[in-house]
Amino acid sequence: MTSRPEADQETTASAVSQLDDNATDLSSNKRKVFVRTYGCQMNVYDSERMADVLSPEGYQATEDMEDADLVILNTCHIREKAAEKVYSELGRIRKVKEQRAKSGKDMMVGVAGCVAQAEGEEISRRAPIVDLVVGPQSYQKLPSLLDEVRKGKKVVETEFDIDAKFAHLSERAANPVLKRPPAAFLTVQEGCDKFCTFCVVPYTRGGEVSRTVDQIVNEAERMAASGVREVTLLGQNVNAYHGEAPDGSTWGLGRLLRRLSEIKGLDRLRYTTSHPRDMDDDLIAAHRDLKSVMPYLHLPVQSGSDKILKAMNRRHTRDEYFQLIDRIREAAPDLALSGDFIVGFPGETDQDFEDTMDLIRRVQYGSAFSFKYSQRPGTPGATMDGQVPEDVKSERLAKLQALVSEQQQAFNASRLGMSFDVLLEKKGRNAGQLVGKSPWLQPVQLDAPESLIGSIQAVEIVKIGSNSLFGQLIDGQDDKDISGAIPTPAA
Ligand code: 5AD
Ligand code: SF4
Repeated sequence: MTSRPEADQETTASAVSQLDDNATDLSSNKRKVFVRTYGCQMNVYDSERMADVLSPEGYQATEDMEDADLVILNTCHIREKAAEKVYSELGRIRKVKEQRAKSGKDMMVGVAGCVAQAEGEEISRRAPIVDLVVGPQSYQKLPSLLDEVRKGKKVVETEFDIDAKFAHLSERAANPVLKRPPAAFLTVQEGCDKFCTFCVVPYTRGGEVSRTVDQIVNEAERMAASGVREVTLLGQNVNAYHGEAPDGSTWGLGRLLRRLSEIKGLDRLRYTTSHPRDMDDDLIAAHRDLKSVMPYLHLPVQSGSDKILKAMNRRHTRDEYFQLIDRIREAAPDLALSGDFIVGFPGETDQDFEDTMDLIRRVQYGSAFSFKYSQRPGTPGATMDGQVPEDVKSERLAKLQALVSEQQQAFNASRLGMSFDVLLEKKGRNAGQLVGKSPWLQPVQLDAPESLIGSIQAVEIVKIGSNSLFGQLIDGQDDKDISGAIPTPAA
């Protein structure tokens, strides 16, 4: 699994937009940066970190590409569709750059993220407007790389120096100019050693590296102090976390969650994405014991067929997955499960696909993400016999998505009439409306004053929509989860 499966989804601009109000005075030489983020939450987190690095350089965010001196695409390589989007976007950017050039304004164009790592120089060959190609482990070098570009060089930086990246990230995250939303991401682990045969992650993000406990706790404490109430710990293989503790011992994710749950104001902890093989007893116990660990688990299985699981090199059987789910549900009965599925992996027969459908029926997911298998150059799956035709993949995907959608609707419907805590995160579409998250990661819409953004409120669910729940505040309840200093709500 990779850190979350919305890899085809794009988040426009602007991790850096958080700098809007604050970066203005940092330099008289105001520069504008436009960042577009594709893919998983780790890219969202990385875009924020790029913003951290660019802020002292006098960069201010802009939502308008035409206004930007620097455009960065933070890219995703997980499936072909995600990677191809980058090139079509570069075509659009070329026109904007030409337009700006006519009025005497320059524009630097950078490609960051996993496409940068995987394709390197090939990118500026295919899209000559690209000035800078920078892989995910090198964002701390952005200022010096941009200096090179200003000297007229084409720069490609795809070194793996993850320790340097982690060291630098912690340092920059202390930067007080950043306002953070009430729910934020924190990378605890990067890379993967699992080598599933369909997946590019071990090649684009490298081997598994964990940040130290101190680095993570310091960053989490700073987040809490700046108003963050919910932290989602990120890693391509997050439950393989094995970070060095202050006493020199090695902590797993369960132990780390226990430590983080002691931080005042951090009321909600989540983590993504996990591999079934790394779901140990201590982590399962954390779901049972810690109120702040939310009852939601993204635990991709990819396929329900033992034959395909083997071909994917997932290193477990379907029965082992069922046994694991039983243990998790015993410890945390109200936990909602989510998963990722790939249909049409090479060699997948109708029966293999039926095994996947059967697994989904047995497990009952609260939500799931599903994809047609995409051949990724350099991965073993790409050259395996038995590639499945596109139309068969499409048919299977539609069936699987219909089943998952049924389960999701049923899970959402089961919340009707329930009351629970909702973290209010931002304004909704309509005036007077806010949007928050349920403990099970469902969006909840309700009428509430803006001043409540960043607080946790008891809410009763009064209506179920197709993708979200509708609730109302339960009168007379204050922000009941706050147990210490009240953090400043992020605007
Ligand atoms: N083809 C299709 N889906 C893929 N994923 C990863 N690699 C591929 C691929 N080559 C999916 C997996 C993973 C999620 C992030 O993306 O389901 O868990
Ligand atoms: Fe996840 Fe497997 Fe890819 Fe590692 S190789 S990120 S475990 S899908």
